[in-house]
Amino acid sequence: MKVLVYGSINIDLVFSVEHIVRPGETVASRHFERKAGGKGANQAVALSRAGSDVWFAGKSGPDAQWIVDLMQKSGVNTDLLCRTDSPNGQAVIQVEHKAQNAIILMPGSNAKITTEEIDTVLEHFGADDCLVLQNEIPHIAYLIEKAWEKDMFVVFNPSPLPDFSALPLDKVDLFVLNEIEAAAMAGMDSDADYEAVLDALAATWPQTEFVLTAGSAGAFYRMDDISAYSSSPKVKAVDTTGAGDTFLGYFLTLKNEMRPVEDCLCDACLAASIACTRKGAMPSIPERREIDGD
Ligand code: RIB
Repeated sequence: MKVLVYGSINIDLVFSVEHIVRPGETVASRHFERKAGGKGANQAVALSRAGSDVWFAGKSGPDAQWIVDLMQKSGVNTDLLCRTDSPNGQAVIQVEHKAQNAIILMPGSNAKITTEEIDTVLEHFGADDCLVLQNEIPHIAYLIEKAWEKDMFVVFNPSPLPDFSALPLDKVDLFVLNEIEAAAMAGMDSDADYEAVLDALAATWPQTEFVLTAGSAGAFYRMDDISAYSSSPKVKAVDTTGAGDTFLGYFLTLKNEMRPVEDCLCDACLAASIACTRKGAMPSIPERREIDGD
């Protein structure tokens, strides 16, 4: 099985701050770094480090060749990645002293993906393959429809939060959602009880698999009346950026290995918690041997 990640590639401009800047405020950054990121690129690397056969498609600018090189070194096949002379996508990231973050996206090259490019890329994939999407590129509805027509297994991490009403949600096989995304998709308040949110999602889409990631509170799985949960190891977090991407890469890889869903949740929580102990998004993603303890 090949896993195609069609998604974003970003240059992350990471500012370490005492607290996330408030309206009208100016704060001094204690430290600044330029790191590899983008939800699509991060998830492709996480899938590859976990052991999947991964292809990454999207659109990069000339200023992000160093990130493409890093992805290739991590085992991601980038032969189907399109290039543009326009600047690459960027993300301005504030990381505060408790390791939480706030992100501003500048889509750049990611916004230049066309449906013609998508058609060409999808020619290389079929019914045995998997498509992984996030919401940092255009044409998400088109990608879901086309992959569904090919009978690919479609995974959607709707981040940043999309307009769910504009998407063919019944053609997605697996959603990986954080608390806010899950509640929004269920049409409930963002502080709603996780089980109630999953009940609502499963009642509306009984054929669909849902994973709800709740940070340090662990992760939940639901499909119809099948449910599972794993807690998350306690760690001293320094930067939570990319933890969700790490979780997705490990969860999907282990699921495709036909491991029991409790094991998939448990090891994906472990991988995400390790990522939180390291700085940056892509650089923080652990290798499989760190999860298996080899
Ligand atoms: O999920 C983390 C990522 O979100 C960062 O790498 C940043 O690029 C934004 O896309």
